[in-house]
Amino acid sequence: MLKLDEMAKKLQQMLTPNRFRHSVNTMETCIRLAEKYGADVDKAAIAGLIHDCAKDLDNDVILPMCEKYGIIVDEVSGSQPKLLHGEIGAHMAKELFGIDDPQILDAVADHTLGRPGMDVISSIVFIADYIEPGRDFEGVGDIRRAAEESLEKAIVIGINSTIRHVLKKGQLLHPRSVMTRNWALQKLKEKEQEQQP
Ligand SMILES: [Fe+2]
Ligand SMILES: [Fe+2]
Repeated sequence: MLKLDEMAKKLQQMLTPNRFRHSVNTMETCIRLAEKYGADVDKAAIAGLIHDCAKDLDNDVILPMCEKYGIIVDEVSGSQPKLLHGEIGAHMAKELFGIDDPQILDAVADHTLGRPGMDVISSIVFIADYIEPGRDFEGVGDIRRAAEESLEKAIVIGINSTIRHVLKKGQLLHPRSVMTRNWALQKLKEKEQEQQP
């Protein structure tokens, strides 16, 4: 596996300057959240840094790459190939950065749609991607505040905002976004019940 600064150098050549800045910001937010929630800081940092390594690939290379890596393209991601940049990114992370830690690779693969049952590293990257300091969209403040309370709450509020955005744009909604939201909401409710006397 490459060292973090070597990864950053390599990544910088693969991404637009804005995307690279977003990646570094996401890494820094991942470090902060990992410290706050007692997760492995190194893994969170690496996953945050490289999560978008496939985001600037052209649309016409995405589907051939899915074929190469054996990634299953469903109905929704077939119509919006950018949704596949997480899964492709996980394969690229292995190939180009020598990463084989399954927690890091899962976090990269699942950062766009989440996944029910995802672990703390995946959850941190998922949220950091929404709230890194460079992000500015309607409702980002609510997600930032939720992230100070619980990861589950931030996941629910983050996906709520994504769903609103997808509906507004008239795009297909990926069922996994809904599944991830329901999982996090259920977990949040269970926690709240536990906390009641
Ligand atoms: Fe992404
Ligand atoms: Fe991102």
